[in-house]
Amino acid sequence: MSQYRTHTCDQLRPADVGQTATLAGWVDSRRDHGGVIFIDLRDREGITQVVFRPEENAAVAGQSHGLRSEDVITVTGQVAPRLAGKENAALPTGGIELVADSLTVLNKAEVPPFPLDQDAVNEDIRLSHRYLDLRRPRMARNLKARHRIVKTVRDYLDDAGFLEIETPILSKSTPEGARDFLVPSRMAPGSFYALPQAPQQYKQLLMVGGLEKYFQIAKCFRDEDLRADRQPEFTQIDIEASFVDREDIIALVEGMLKKVFRAALDVDVPTPFPRLTYADAMDRYGSDKPDTRFGVELVDLGDTFTQSAFKVFRGALESGGVVKAINAKGFAGITTGQIEELTRMAQSYGAKGLAFIKVENGEWKSPIVKFFSDAEKTALTAKLQIEEGDLILFGADKRETACEVLGRIRLRVAEILKLTADSKAWNLLWVVDFPLLAFNHDEGKWDAVHHPFTRPLAEDVPLLESSDTYGQARAAAYDVVLNGFEVGGGSIRIHESALQSKMFDILGVSGEAQTEQFGHILKAFSFGAPPHGGIALGLDRLVMLLCGEDSIREVIAFPKNNRGQDLMSQSPAVAEPRQLRELHLQTTVKTAPSPPSGPTTMPTGAKP
Ligand code: AMO
Ligand code: AMP
Repeated sequence: MSQYRTHTCDQLRPADVGQTATLAGWVDSRRDHGGVIFIDLRDREGITQVVFRPEENAAVAGQSHGLRSEDVITVTGQVAPRLAGKENAALPTGGIELVADSLTVLNKAEVPPFPLDQDAVNEDIRLSHRYLDLRRPRMARNLKARHRIVKTVRDYLDDAGFLEIETPILSKSTPEGARDFLVPSRMAPGSFYALPQAPQQYKQLLMVGGLEKYFQIAKCFRDEDLRADRQPEFTQIDIEASFVDREDIIALVEGMLKKVFRAALDVDVPTPFPRLTYADAMDRYGSDKPDTRFGVELVDLGDTFTQSAFKVFRGALESGGVVKAINAKGFAGITTGQIEELTRMAQSYGAKGLAFIKVENGEWKSPIVKFFSDAEKTALTAKLQIEEGDLILFGADKRETACEVLGRIRLRVAEILKLTADSKAWNLLWVVDFPLLAFNHDEGKWDAVHHPFTRPLAEDVPLLESSDTYGQARAAAYDVVLNGFEVGGGSIRIHESALQSKMFDILGVSGEAQTEQFGHILKAFSFGAPPHGGIALGLDRLVMLLCGEDSIREVIAFPKNNRGQDLMSQSPAVAEPRQLRELHLQTTVKTAPSPPSGPTTMPTGAKP
C-alpha cells in the first residue's frame, strides 16, 4: 500500500499470523504491564492491539514509553496470536496483536479536552472540537451509513432514469413555511438573495424545461426554531418527475426506501406501505405523523356523552366539539406529579384540562366519575376496553384541539411507559389526502398546508369557489412517516398558470405581489408545463433513525448547536465594518468592540 501502512486497523486476523504488517493511526489507549507496553491503535476502520516487548526489541519498547493518547504513529511488526485466554471477542481483530519492531511518531497530540471513548460528554464541548469528536468510532459509523444510504439512493434513481441536477443556492425566496436566510448583494445595493428553503421552484422549472426526471441531494436552509430533528441547514433527497401521478411517486419512494433499508441495515421492509388519510391519522393518533409501533389509539366518545350530567363533556359536544379518550393500559399507578405534568402539557397545547380515571382495586378513582350514569360507565368500559390497572385520559374540545392534545399525551405516555424502548419495528406509512388550506387565525388569512404549488384533488377543485368550503378541499399531497417521524413530503403540482394564480388569490397574494414574487413561474407555466409532481425526503432524519440516534446532529459532520451556532468555527460572527460598508449595510446592534485602529491592524484594502 503506502509507506505508512499495509493494512487498516480492522484487517488483520489469525490467518495473517507470521506476516509482517505496517499500520498507521491514532493511539487510542496505552497500557504499561510491567515494562511491556500495549497500545490500541485506531484508524477509521477499527482497532488493532500493538505490543512493545523489551525482550524482543528494547529500543522500540523504550520509544513506546513516550506515546500518549491521540499521537499519530506508524508501526511495523509481526502479526502474532494473542496469548491463550487474552483474545478479545468484542474486536474483529481481537484474535491477534502486532508485535512492534519499528515505530515512527508522525505527530504528537496535546491532551484532548474530553475522553474520546465516552458517550456522555457535554455536546457543546464535543461540537467545539468536532474534528476530535469525529474520531470516535460511533461518528465514523454514522457517517459511513450516511454515505452508503446516499450512494444507494443515487444508484437507485440513476437506474430509474433520474438525472442529478444542481440548483442555485443564491436564489429567490420560495415559501416552505419557515423564515428565509438572506444574503445581501454587493452589486445591487439594498437587494438580497434568499437561500433556498427547498429547491421547489427550480425543480418545477426543470420539468417545464423538459428534463422529466430530476433528483438532487440538496442543501436547504430554514431559519426556524431548532429541535433534535431540525437544523437550520439540512439535506433533502429531492425528487421531481413529469407525466406522473401520486401512485408513481409513492411506488418510486417505496422501492427506494426498500433498497436503503437493505443497504443500511440488511432489513427487508414490506411494500406497499400502509396508508392513512390525514383525517384518520388525526382521529386515531392525534398526529399527522403517527407512531404506529404501539396502540393507545384515540377513541371517540361523542355518542356516549351527548346527554351527560358532566357539563364539560356535554358542553364540548353541544358546541360542535368532540370528547375523546385514550386508555393507557397498566398506568393506574400514575403519580400526582405525573398527572400534573400531563395536565400542564395538555394546557400548553390549548386544552382546558385533562380529565382522568384510574382503575385501581376494582374502583374508578377520578374527580369526574360521580357525574357519570351507569349507562355511560358501561359504554365507556366497552369502547375503551377498560380493565383493572388502566388509566383513562380525556380530551373535550374543538376537534383539532382534542386530537392534538391527546396525540401529544399519547406520545408522552408511551415514553413514560417505555412502549417503544425495545422495539425493533420499522413502521413506514403514508399519510395522504392532507387538507389543501388551513385558516391562519393570527393573520386572518388562508395558508397553504404544504406549499402554494400543491395541486388540489381533482374532485375538490369546486370547493375552491367559496371561502366557506376552502377548509374542506384536500390536496394531492403525501407524507412518508417512519416510527413517528415525518421523513418526507411531497405532492402533485399545479401546472396551469390559471389554477396557480387562483391559488395565490386564495392565499391573499395580490396580483402585483404574484408578478413580483412568482411572475417567473406563472410565466413558465404559460409555455406548456407538463403535469408533474415530486417529493423531498429529509436525509438527515432518515439517517438518524437508521443509525438509532436521537438527534440529527449525530449524523451531520459539522452541525450547528440548538442555538444555531457552529461552536468550532465560532459562526455566526460579527462582520467587519468594511464588509458591511461594501454591502451597504448598517446594523442596529452593538455586538462587538470596534476593531483596534492604527496602520498595523488595518485590514488590507480598507480605506482609513
Ligand atoms: P418539506 O418542507 O415537507 O417539503 O420538507 C421535506 C422533508 O425535509 C425534512 N426537513 C428537515 N430536516 C431537518 N431540518 C429541518 N429544518 C427540516 N425541515 C424539513 C423533513 C421533511 O419531510 N419542497 C417540498 C417537497 C416537495 O413538495 O417535493 C419540501 O421541502 O423530513
Ligand atoms: P372542572 O369541573 O373544570 O374542575 O373539571 C373537572 C375535570 O375535568 C378536571 O380533571 C379537569 O382537568 C378536566 N377537564 C376540564 N376541562 C376539560 C376538557 N376540555 N377536556 C378534558 N378534561 C377537562
